[in-house]
Amino acid sequence: MRIAVPRERAPRESRVALVPESVAKLVKAGATVTIEHEAGLAAGFPDAQYTIAGATIASDISAALSGADLVARVQPPTAADAAALPNGCSVVSYWQPGGTPEVLAALQAKQVRLLALERVPRITRAQSMDVLSSQATVSGYKAVLIGAAALPKMLPMLTTAAGTIAPARVFVIGAGVAGLQAIATARRLGAVVSGFDVRAAAQEQIQSLGATMLKIDVGVAEGTGGYARAQSEDQARLTQEGIAKHIAGVDLVITTAAIPGKRAPVLITASAVRGMKTGSVIVDLAAETGGNCELTKAGETVDVGGVQIIGPLGLPSTAAFHASQMLSRNILTFITHVTKENALNIDASDEITGAMLVPA
Ligand code: NAI
Repeated sequence: MRIAVPRERAPRESRVALVPESVAKLVKAGATVTIEHEAGLAAGFPDAQYTIAGATIASDISAALSGADLVARVQPPTAADAAALPNGCSVVSYWQPGGTPEVLAALQAKQVRLLALERVPRITRAQSMDVLSSQATVSGYKAVLIGAAALPKMLPMLTTAAGTIAPARVFVIGAGVAGLQAIATARRLGAVVSGFDVRAAAQEQIQSLGATMLKIDVGVAEGTGGYARAQSEDQARLTQEGIAKHIAGVDLVITTAAIPGKRAPVLITASAVRGMKTGSVIVDLAAETGGNCELTKAGETVDVGGVQIIGPLGLPSTAAFHASQMLSRNILTFITHVTKENALNIDASDEITGAMLVPA
């Protein structure tokens, strides 16, 4: 089986789909792996490490893709990428956001199968392939660092000869993978942390990390598969009011609330922002899907009366070494799952593979 890894060309993308550690395992299992020149460099993996792992380095993308059975990449292919792919190969990468119907049609015209990483089902058996979780871990961690750097305060309580410094108050909205990592990171930095989520299981998880749960008496809003569902209008209004009251006394708010397949819920209104203390910071991890704060601008930092609202994009790429390492382990597990006797075996009836195949 021939596996190719092209260099990512999308703006803000520094990750690589396979790191040398995974390449060595694939080569040991009998695969031939070709890496495009400097594909791993931005993530901290130079060509020399891939050579030691047993890969061949190709000088350009067409040499890398030539004869490939499987192309492993991070960002979805563009129309130009689709044109360069060998007929009948398979591609494993993210499909959304960014994938377009035109590219899908171009892939289908070449009988290229696309397996979307974000479609890995959230089932126990597929946990080690779950890129949403592995990359959300990085985002949750980084969100706290970005917020801490923007705050005019330090996070821990300090007792010094110059007096005692009170710890900063951090509030995390949404206690999924990113939110729980944000809570853990803020706690490690010594902040006093509170959290909020609409799922019943969240309270115990928030508390187990040493944070308190903000109680807003609106009942749970839980859908299927352990995910949240959208709140009713009344529930949403009461939640916004409860959050507005709470964040008036908070220094740093990290928001991560998401509803699968929908716009992110608006949980912080403009008037709630105006009620916050000068110097407070909001880091809105939902910026890409519309924002949890009414005033968030994706990819920008806005200052509203002394409150900074940061809407970062592409956070996993800002810790590209570890993000790639985890992504690569996810992809390696997937490749192992679809390999039979050193050949690709894409079985659409398989629960995991079938869910990942992007339909026509
Ligand atoms: P996500 O990124 O879809 O959403 C983030 C968080 O926002 C969730 O915890 C959600 O409950 C919360 N949220 C939604 N609306 C809200 C609102 N109005 N107010 C406050 N919070 C709100 O979630 P993520 O991180 O992908 O995981 C969510 C759940 O998915 C997990 O708790 C778990 O049940 C399940 N999961 C299962 C996995 C597996 O079995 N392989 C792996 C990861 C997650």
